Amino acid sequence: MLSAVRRDRWAEPMPNPDPSSRHVPVMLDRVVALLGPALERPGAVLVDATLGLGGHSEAFLQTFPQARLIGLDRDPEALRLAGERLAPYSERITLVHAVYDELPRVLDELDIPAIDGILFDLGVSSMQLDEADRGFAYAQDAPLDMRMDNTAPTTAADILNSYSSAELARILFQYGEEKFARRIADRIVREREIEPFTNSARLSELVRDSIPQAARRTGGHPAKRTFQALRIEVNGELDVLRRALPAAVEALALHGRIVVMSYHSLEDRISKQTLAAGTKSDVPDDLPVIPAGHEPYLKLLTRGAEKPTAEEVAANPRAASARVRAAERVREKGLVA
Ligand SMILES: C[S@@+](CC[C@H](N)C(=O)[O-])C[C@H]1O[C@@H](n2cnc3c(N)ncnc32)[C@H](O)[C@@H]1O
Repeated sequence: MLSAVRRDRWAEPMPNPDPSSRHVPVMLDRVVALLGPALERPGAVLVDATLGLGGHSEAFLQTFPQARLIGLDRDPEALRLAGERLAPYSERITLVHAVYDELPRVLDELDIPAIDGILFDLGVSSMQLDEADRGFAYAQDAPLDMRMDNTAPTTAADILNSYSSAELARILFQYGEEKFARRIADRIVREREIEPFTNSARLSELVRDSIPQAARRTGGHPAKRTFQALRIEVNGELDVLRRALPAAVEALALHGRIVVMSYHSLEDRISKQTLAAGTKSDVPDDLPVIPAGHEPYLKLLTRGAEKPTAEEVAANPRAASARVRAAERVREKGLVA
C-alpha cells in the first residue's frame, strides 16, 4: 500500500556504490532548457515525478540555486539512492515515497498551492534494470517480480499464474502490442498447470517457442513485448499516467512548464493527447469569441515528439526510444473549464 508523505526521510546517507556512476540522465540539456525558464525566480518549485537515481534533479539543483525540488518515486530503493546523491542539497529538497498520481495529495500535505515545473521521465530506471533479482530484464534469468515498489502486492508471477487466458491475451496485445498474444496466453495457461511460473528464463523460452520462426527474426528479442506488457500491468502504469498528467497540468502555476519523456508509443500517446487537449478551446469552432475561462490553457513547447541525438544514443543506447513533449501553462490554475 502507499505510504503517507514522509519528508526528507530518504536523505539519510547510507553505504552504497556511487549512484551517479550507474545512471546517465536522458536528454539532460534539452530537459533543463525546456523547464529552465519557469525555474529562475527565487523559490520556484520543481517536481521530479520520477526521481529515479536523481540524475535530472541533481542538474536542476545545480543549475537553479534558488529552486526547491519535490522528488517522487514509488520505489523505496530509488529514493534512498537519490537521497544519498542529493544530500548536498538537503535544505532545498523534499523526497516523497508516492505514486505520481498522488501528486495533488502530496502538494496539499506540503502546503504547496502551485508548482513551476514538473518532469516525468517514465519507465524503469537503469538501477531497476540492472538489478537482476527485480525481474525487469528479459535477457537474464530472475524471479518474475517487476514491481517498482517492492511493497506492492502483485508480482508478474502472480499475474501469470492467476489471470485467465483471455485476460493475459488482452494485456499482451494492449500493453505489448504483441501480435501473437493469444498463442502466448494459451501456452502460459497450459504450462502453468504443469508447474507455476517463478522465473523469467522459462517465460522467455515459452514466448520464443510460441512465435512462428519467421517472426522471430524481426522486432528484437521475442520476449521484449511480453515483458513490457507484464511490467505495465504489474505497476498499473498507463492508468496511473492517464490520471497523473492532467493532475500535473492542473497543479502548474501560470507560465509553469511540464516535460514528459516517454519510452514507448503507449506512454507517448497519452502524453501527446493530454498536452494537445490543453491547447484547444472547448467551445464550438463557430463561436465568434472564446468566452473567458474557455481559452486554451497550454502552449506546446515541442514540435511533435523530440528525440535524442545520434551522439547521445551512441553513448547511451538506453536513450534510443526516448520521446520528449513539453508545454507551458498559459492560463491560470483553477480556471480550467
Ligand atoms: C527512468 S527512471 C528516472 C530516472 C531519473 N530521471 C534520473 O535521472 O535518475 C523512472 C523512475 O520513475 C519511477 N516511477 C515509475 N513509475 C512511477 C510512478 N507511477 N510513480 C512514481 N514513480 C514512478 C521508477 O521507480 C523509476 O525510479
